[in-house]
Amino acid sequence: MIGAAEFKKRRAQLMAMMSPGSVAVIPGAKLSRRNRDIQYLFRQDSDFYYLTGFVEPEALLVLAPGREHGEEILFCADRDPHAERWDGERLGPERATQMLGVDDAFPYADMDDILPGLLEGRERIYITLGEYPEFDQRLIAWVADIRKREAGGAQPPGEFMELKHFLHELRLYKSTKEVNLMRKAADITAAAHVRAMQACEPGMTEAQLEAELTYEFMRSGARSPAYPCIVGSGNNACVMHYVENTATLKKNDLVLIDAGCEYQHYAADVTRTFPVSGRYSATQRAIYEIVLAANEAAIAECRPGRHFNAPHEAALRVMVEGLVALKILKGEVATLIEEEGYRDVCPHKTSHWLGIDVHDVGDYRIDSTWRQLEPGMVLTIEPGIYIPRNETTEHLPSKYRGIGVRIEDDVLITRGGCEVLTAAVPKRIDEVEALMADRA
Ligand code: GLY
Ligand code: MN
Ligand code: MN
Repeated sequence: MIGAAEFKKRRAQLMAMMSPGSVAVIPGAKLSRRNRDIQYLFRQDSDFYYLTGFVEPEALLVLAPGREHGEEILFCADRDPHAERWDGERLGPERATQMLGVDDAFPYADMDDILPGLLEGRERIYITLGEYPEFDQRLIAWVADIRKREAGGAQPPGEFMELKHFLHELRLYKSTKEVNLMRKAADITAAAHVRAMQACEPGMTEAQLEAELTYEFMRSGARSPAYPCIVGSGNNACVMHYVENTATLKKNDLVLIDAGCEYQHYAADVTRTFPVSGRYSATQRAIYEIVLAANEAAIAECRPGRHFNAPHEAALRVMVEGLVALKILKGEVATLIEEEGYRDVCPHKTSHWLGIDVHDVGDYRIDSTWRQLEPGMVLTIEPGIYIPRNETTEHLPSKYRGIGVRIEDDVLITRGGCEVLTAAVPKRIDEVEALMADRA
């Protein structure tokens, strides 16, 4: 668990990066309506969560370095016995200062009265513009309100600055406690993938496999998946964001599962591709071995001193060489790579940052060059080859069509190299087949 002290330290780190005489405004997430009076399960905004650990809706954090009556100000829903009987207990501003370690707290409903006073006299406002357009409008209205009083001596802020440059740079480097939560998310996710492999049988639906995954997530303390589970059998594996999960598993097909849990706000993101029957066919094996070699070549590049794109370059080379050897791609390896002649079958990149968000924040380039990998960064390694059965692949031998394979791991960069957080999910063919042979 991440305690109040670490959240406070993060706020202090952010304030130390802000320019003198500035203020930062960080809104929490809004409830999202599913239909009529039913809301989607609430998920706190990731930036707001990172700085507070506070998980209620209707919340806003203001950081005002140097403010005499407290630099860290939280707005949160006021106590209300009637509302709490319906929607659950609220922390309330009185308890917020003690429980969260902020300096000052006010009822969310009083924001219009109090916020202009916090902005007044500050030269610069840091905000993540565009995330919550309605909130941006309110903020502009507060600033306009101060401007109207300029003749009477009010000092309106003169600049809006993007907060994410500082905040997302902090989020990119995971602390020991964050890494521990990510290890836990990875362990639960590993157990879920193993469970799905063991439960898999021809005649089941993809959704029934999804049920095995979410069962394992929730029984292990994760409240939900970090993103909708992708369970794609046969040709469905070639649809990158396939989430229908309605098809029936056929004996001779592969099934691709891309699923990870969110544990205490931290994500895992894992893909495995295995045969419904428990045994890979020769053709499936040929494609799978290429993707596995690409995954391993990319992981070998995960260490301090290599740049973010080095794993992708390594994976791509292995896949293009393999696809040329199988005559699925035609031409020179170097030319195919340079001219992106692989894009029909290898359409996506190999990595993204991972953390509180599954596609986590942080710049990938600095001054237009790929940034270096450093200890504490967590990224995915997820090469894939997809040969859909459609008009783009009519020229290929039938045996390859309708095969999609992705193998995705989560990797922490360490001082000495890296740690594969998801190593407990089998990926070698003999390991997967042995696990599936063990099915009851
Ligand atoms: N699950 C989304 C991704 O792999 O990026
Ligand atoms: Mn994934
Ligand atoms: Mn991913």
